[in-house]
Amino acid sequence: MLRLLMIGDIYAEPGLRAVRKLLPPLREQFDFVLANAENASGGRGVHDLALSSLFKLGVDCVTLGNHTWRHQDIYGWLEDPRVLRPLNYPEGTPGRGLASFQVGGERLAVASALGRVFMEPMDCPFQAMDLALKGQDLGTVVLDFHAEATSEKAAMAAFLDGRVGAVLGTHTHVATADERILPGGTAFQTDVGMTGVRDSVIGADPEAPVKNFRGRIPQRLKPAQGTAWLHATALSLQGGRAVAVSRISLSEEVAVVSAQ
Ligand SMILES: [Fe+2]
Ligand SMILES: [Fe+2]
Repeated sequence: MLRLLMIGDIYAEPGLRAVRKLLPPLREQFDFVLANAENASGGRGVHDLALSSLFKLGVDCVTLGNHTWRHQDIYGWLEDPRVLRPLNYPEGTPGRGLASFQVGGERLAVASALGRVFMEPMDCPFQAMDLALKGQDLGTVVLDFHAEATSEKAAMAAFLDGRVGAVLGTHTHVATADERILPGGTAFQTDVGMTGVRDSVIGADPEAPVKNFRGRIPQRLKPAQGTAWLHATALSLQGGRAVAVSRISLSEEVAVVSAQ
């Protein structure tokens, strides 16, 4: 049995603070901790310092997303199998979108892919995953599908059902109450949710997003300040398939929900 925790998009310093406070007591319950850190530094991208601190806190692998290229000081990290950019970038793009790990006696592969609906043009994530899975036994595979559209995420899960252990959505920053195990044994949740300030607009201080929606003069987003919460999904995986999936939502002040 492989127990895996996936932490949803860590947003700016309050998100890192929530991980610092809430991950250590949880860490020993899991064999492997995966975290999406594409917003960990100032809400856009991640800097070297934040990446290093996540690894020190017990994160085993970091996935990125559409903000991968924001800060050049992490480009060197893309050589490290613990840092994944989405796999469906054009051929020749630095870094990798899939890495294998030995966890106890089990082989685990973590993959990252970007959706294409309401997002930047990208190679087909379905084809990229198909190619990645074909002709090789990767052991248990967990995909972080970083996508905007709920339908695209559900379609990816249906497409991969029975071939991977889990498809967990990220990017929309709101945890969805649809975690389940599909008929073929693949765990799925449309979005793991965000780790950052609770009273925010998906991590940002509300002032700029409200102005952006009401007017046409672009405003720069600032990370919100206040109580942070951590959203994560816990998986139990066996023989490459999921046997349990549950949502975790913890506040840095008080645990508000701990599903199942
Ligand atoms: Fe994000
Ligand atoms: Fe994103």
